[in-house]
Amino acid sequence: MVAAKIAPSMLSSDFSKLASEAERMIRCGADWLHMDIMDVNCVLMPVGLFCFKVVLFFFSHRAYLDCHLMVTNPMDYVEPFGKAGASGFTFHVEASKDNWQELIQRIKLKGMRPGVALKPGTPIEDVYPLVDGENPVEMVLVMTVEPGFGGQKFMPEMMEKVRALREKYPSLDIEVDGGLGPSTIGIAASAGANCIVAGSSVFGASEPTQVISLMRKSVEE
Ligand code: DX5
Ligand code: ZN
Repeated sequence: MVAAKIAPSMLSSDFSKLASEAERMIRCGADWLHMDIMDVNCVLMPVGLFCFKVVLFFFSHRAYLDCHLMVTNPMDYVEPFGKAGASGFTFHVEASKDNWQELIQRIKLKGMRPGVALKPGTPIEDVYPLVDGENPVEMVLVMTVEPGFGGQKFMPEMMEKVRALREKYPSLDIEVDGGLGPSTIGIAASAGANCIVAGSSVFGASEPTQVISLMRKSVEE
């Protein structure tokens, strides 16, 4: 079985106290902190890169920082994110059609774990060459909402992609992102996802520890 990783999405945190929000999630049992970095070209809502860099700087030695880059030129971010202390660097396959081999190599050289993400409209076959290549990614992130915002509705039809991936790659880290919480974790875990991003369901809960532990149990069952 592939280990469960529960990754609260900092996009749903209180931005006026990012550092203590990150601490709180670690105390509540989070394995990773999920950082969403977006540019105005890739999604509808631009989110400042600066605040994320501050958090990266503070937490680089204390938590696994699972960075999800929804940007059109991921290559431009490898150097600064490597320096800031990111642990995982997940770029979108839609943004890296031509240069993914070089991109993965650079991410690894900077000491980060490469991952590839795909939007709901992108077929799963598009990521196979990146998992099968000589220099493979170590995680695939299947988006279960259109990227851009927290609090959207989970798309169960994306589970076909997760099932296909799990069948082909029994030990790969498969992450799902968007609309995950107590009511959707069952379907995602049984399809084969083991890395679970959750924003509003964790930050909006009165007891985040319980939500995190419930999600972990579902993956480990
Ligand atoms: C969406 C982001 C997600 C988002 C998840 O573009 O990639 O990480 O914050 O938030 P919830 O769990 O609220 O859907
Ligand atoms: Zn994300």
